[in-house]
Amino acid sequence: MKIVILTGAGMSAESGLRTFREMGGLWEEYDVMEVASPQGWHKDPELVMRFYNERRKQLMDCKPNAGHFGVAELEENFDVHIITQNVDNLHERAGSTKVLHLHGELMKCRSSIDETLVYDMDHWELKMGDLCNKGSQLRPHIVWFGEAVPAMEEAIPIVETADILVVIGTSLNVYPAAGLINYTRSGIPIYLIDPNKPDIPMNGINFIQEKAGKGVDILKEELLQKYR
Ligand code: APR
Repeated sequence: MKIVILTGAGMSAESGLRTFREMGGLWEEYDVMEVASPQGWHKDPELVMRFYNERRKQLMDCKPNAGHFGVAELEENFDVHIITQNVDNLHERAGSTKVLHLHGELMKCRSSIDETLVYDMDHWELKMGDLCNKGSQLRPHIVWFGEAVPAMEEAIPIVETADILVVIGTSLNVYPAAGLINYTRSGIPIYLIDPNKPDIPMNGINFIQEKAGKGVDILKEELLQKYR
């Protein structure tokens, strides 16, 4: 049984990482085009560096939550594929083994002239003057607004072959990621875990109106009962 799980910022909220579009969300404090777009990077790269350094530092101080561990435990009984919009590494740190990042990864950086040159980071600070092997400035390995989402071509076939789709902690506001839910075979079970009701048509969706930690527990019970 192949379960595909699409996650967003709400998945990491209980780990202490802020979401984007809620009260007190990241986009309330920062102008997204200044800190998460190629234009912003061109205009003021130091500001962009500071934005991601702060988020990287915070990520290194926080831990996976019950939701991440619950999703990782599903692998004991199901073939679980995670497709996440999150740039944190909390799914991996909780033990999930198949995680596809649509919007990049905070703990990686890459060359600004050759996007195939990607480097792991084990520290929080990336500085102007840190160069890639080809001598160009390193940038956060993040998909900025206005940039292509290359991982979509890998994500679509994963969703197309899902037996069950689970959506956790995303407002489904950002495309093309949000469009992934339209690629499922018709009629497969779809679960959605979120404390708030997202504004999408919910007919036929099993809505678990809980935070990720509790919601994943409820989901796990139901999946083990029905599909193991
Ligand atoms: N558990 C589960 N869901 C939660 C929790 C929680 N504890 N707290 C909040 N949520 C839900 C919110 O109700 C909302 O539906 O998580 C969702 C967060 O939505 P957004 O802040 O829009 O985050 P996301 O959907 O991941 O944004 C998508 O936008 O800014 C870009 O690249 C960024 O990947 C991000 C993308």
